[in-house]
Amino acid sequence: MADRKTYYITTPIYYPSDNLHIGHAYCSVAADTMARYKKLTGHEVFFLTGTDEHGQKIEQRAQQAGVTPQAFVDSIVAGIKNLWTLMDVQYDGFLRTTDKRHEVIVQKIFRQLYEQGDIYKGEYEGWYCTPCEAHWTQTQLKDGKCPDCARDVQLIREESYFFRMSKYQDWLIQYIEEHPDFIQPPSRANEMLANFLRPGLQDLSVSRTSFTWGVPVDFDPGHVIYVWIDALSNYITALGYGTDDDALFQKFWPADLQLVGKEIIRFHTIYWPIMLKALDLPLPKQIFGHGWLVFGGEKMSKSKGNVVDPVVLCGRYGADALRYFLMREMTFGTDGNFTNEALLKRMNADLANDLGNLVSRAVAMIEKYFDGIVPPCGELSALDAALRETALSLPAKVDSHMDSAQYSLALSEIWKLIGDCNRYIDANTPWLLAKNESDRPRLGTVLYHLAECVRMVGVLVGPFMPRTPGRIFGQLGLFDKSARTWNSLSAFGVLPAGTKVRKGDALFPRMDIEKELAILAQTQPKLRAEAETAPPKPVVAIDDFSKIDLRVALVTACEPVAKSDKLLKLTLHVGGETRTVLSGIAAHYKPEAMVGKKVVLLYNLASRKMRGIESEGMILCAGDGETLRLLTVDGDIANGSGIS
Ligand code: MSP
Repeated sequence: MADRKTYYITTPIYYPSDNLHIGHAYCSVAADTMARYKKLTGHEVFFLTGTDEHGQKIEQRAQQAGVTPQAFVDSIVAGIKNLWTLMDVQYDGFLRTTDKRHEVIVQKIFRQLYEQGDIYKGEYEGWYCTPCEAHWTQTQLKDGKCPDCARDVQLIREESYFFRMSKYQDWLIQYIEEHPDFIQPPSRANEMLANFLRPGLQDLSVSRTSFTWGVPVDFDPGHVIYVWIDALSNYITALGYGTDDDALFQKFWPADLQLVGKEIIRFHTIYWPIMLKALDLPLPKQIFGHGWLVFGGEKMSKSKGNVVDPVVLCGRYGADALRYFLMREMTFGTDGNFTNEALLKRMNADLANDLGNLVSRAVAMIEKYFDGIVPPCGELSALDAALRETALSLPAKVDSHMDSAQYSLALSEIWKLIGDCNRYIDANTPWLLAKNESDRPRLGTVLYHLAECVRMVGVLVGPFMPRTPGRIFGQLGLFDKSARTWNSLSAFGVLPAGTKVRKGDALFPRMDIEKELAILAQTQPKLRAEAETAPPKPVVAIDDFSKIDLRVALVTACEPVAKSDKLLKLTLHVGGETRTVLSGIAAHYKPEAMVGKKVVLLYNLASRKMRGIESEGMILCAGDGETLRLLTVDGDIANGSGIS
């Protein structure tokens, strides 16, 4: 079998912050969507993200918090990973720059560049912006302030190592000119050429002596390596570059797509390619500089108090709705205004009305007119042929937009099919066809077309909204994986007639926009606390799940536990074995009501003594905070049966 094509995609590594905002989530969602899309289209994908944990700013913040920098960053990273779990951002690698394996390779890279003469020792004098970790010359300052963030800069004079950027300037200009896809969108390439490369590159100061929280230069320990050299290296150290275990590097480098926000495009399209060239490594195929999410026209920042918290929005509306909005509303590459109102409007119009209604109408009509069994497709009319044509030409259109990271256009193509389907319903008036027995074959054909288009939409929206396909396929009753693949989109008629559909809840509820806006206008910390009542759990591999031994058990006796108003003592028959289990269900079930129930037992839970009684396992319940209900089995099955 031919090797699958590989695809390596990265986000920038984030500065540790306990409140990453929706702007940070934007880049990760875009990368995750692309990674999922490439997986769907048959690639072997590696998606890298991580955290950028060194530098003076972190050192200062840790000092203010009264903890070591390492303890400071450790306390934050878990929250960042939780956010990605919450947003279904499923990375393959998470690099922390404080990871020893990374640090060692950064030192090795630095030493190699020094030994080959690309880095030399000198004295640095210039302006430094601590928040941006960026150096500026006098002429680059804007009104004496940092040209990127307009904050105060400090004058720095210290011994420093320098990277001979100037040596690579002509090469890089030529490379960019000869590779028009390298920097996207093209306006960013022009900006780099005009503002930085053609006026002449200065050698870059790449070490510091004024603070210690960084990777030390191993042959000159008073110096720490400039944080951007450290940070940019992550894209290759994460793959094991420079180690004996570099199989991932061999397989995935050069990266196919590196996503970065527009303010760090300079680091990624000037310093990074030059570093790689000096290391004699190929350059990434594309660096894409996306725009910013702005709020009321201004960049989001804690100091402006205009940050939008993705935890709050995911908690209220679910990751799929938020992800859809981020990818649909803004053109990738330009700035976009984020407003809660726009989010809610799109949720109502695109998700509840267009997509949600299509799925529920199709399934409801199959239930109503064909007892829930997908009817066979009969003779085709012109309307059917046109709908098929739209559906079958869709994957190629989506693919071409995704190829240029135009997420919004890809979604709008998918929504054209959804719109066509809704119009097809109106044009075919199935409710009138249902009135005449002689129209039944035609009614069947119409409903088959709808169900098949819903299947195709289910496949196509997956990369954008990872949870929605499962819900769509659940309603369609489609459990055959081969009908959910990219290849399955090349034919119309994959959904088998005879499939039993099952109407479920609306995919996306309609929002009362005024009411929601009023809620979102409350203080963010309060909403965040509400959203955090159910912190996300990490994704587990099937191997982890298989460690859990769940079995069906029959309750043969049950009594209260003395001096406890919470616990009941259950005697369970599990196959040939009898077990005693204590369960905190006394407020919800009377002991006598328990006898005879078949419950789900966590069989291999370590036993534990409570109130002097050894409890040998745990029975499972569902609870919403108030109500609590036992999990039981649907129909008769032998005690001790395994659950998987
Ligand atoms: N640590 C550096 C990147 C080093 S990569 C070798 C950094 N970190 S960051 O946390 O400040 O930003 C990470 C990414 O989030 C950047 O690409 C940045 O553009 C993006 N965003 C931060 N705020 C944003 C918006 N409001 N909108 C869109 N993206 C934004 O930079």
